[in-house]
Amino acid sequence: MSHITEGSTPRVTAPHIRSRKGGQPIVAVTAHDYPTARLVDEAGLDLILVGDSLAQTVLGYESTLPVTLDEMIAHTRAVRRAVRRALVVGDMPFGSYHESSLQAVESAIRFIKEGGADAVKLEGGSLRVPAVRAIVEAEVPVMGHIGLTPQSVLRMGGYRVQGKTIDAARELIEDSVALERAGVFSIVLEGIPAEISRIITERVSVPTIGIGAGLDCDGQILVFNDLVGLTFGHTAKFVRQYLDLKQEIAGALKKFSDDVSTRRFPADAESYHLPQGIELDLVEEHSLEMPPLGPVN
Ligand code: KIV
Repeated sequence: MSHITEGSTPRVTAPHIRSRKGGQPIVAVTAHDYPTARLVDEAGLDLILVGDSLAQTVLGYESTLPVTLDEMIAHTRAVRRAVRRALVVGDMPFGSYHESSLQAVESAIRFIKEGGADAVKLEGGSLRVPAVRAIVEAEVPVMGHIGLTPQSVLRMGGYRVQGKTIDAARELIEDSVALERAGVFSIVLEGIPAEISRIITERVSVPTIGIGAGLDCDGQILVFNDLVGLTFGHTAKFVRQYLDLKQEIAGALKKFSDDVSTRRFPADAESYHLPQGIELDLVEEHSLEMPPLGPVN
């Protein structure tokens, strides 16, 4: 993988992602905390999105709408502390850029200054062009996101594949061109037919990163919890689950519970001991019985 080198630490930058158009596919995933981000970064993935999917995967909300800017920034900061190489993109939550371009710029700058993000992402097409332009003019790289945009769930009336009529497909293509002109360095295409993604990917000069958008995008992104099987409830058709982590964790917890209940945990090797002399003195002083050896059933 190529990247810009700063001193001894190679860091992926927004211009680097931009330059990957039509080249080696960009590999991206969400991460919401330090351990996850560390694993993702050490695995050499290109881009980490601190997605507002945090609302559902970590905070237990039904949609992404309730998560706040402060919560997003706190999680972005945790991810930043873990990441040495990948590009860290902070996802602007619902309500943090919808009021005005000024509000959008202020929120984006908080992601950079407080969260340590390298870039921000926001949802929406032509309607969001003024906000995108203002953020880019404030020197913050912006990633676009069109198609099934979860922050529009109330308007859409549910999570449905978008662009299925000729007018809706044309609108998505226009949105992608409008975002490109506004200065985004890449565009997430979510939940749209592969045929539209192909047209958009050919049409715009910035990389497209797909999630439920077919094979022809310039990169792919999945939500980490989906990828490792750590979700509850419905999983979208486009998710490929590489691991059943929920099952693994449930198994480990059951074993721990059994070990504690049957006094098989902790073992002697997992315990600390007093030096011999002190132990004997203490036992004498308190006329204690020496503890039994081994597990008690
Ligand atoms: O919040 C998120 O995880 C996202 C991805 C689905 C692209 O926006």
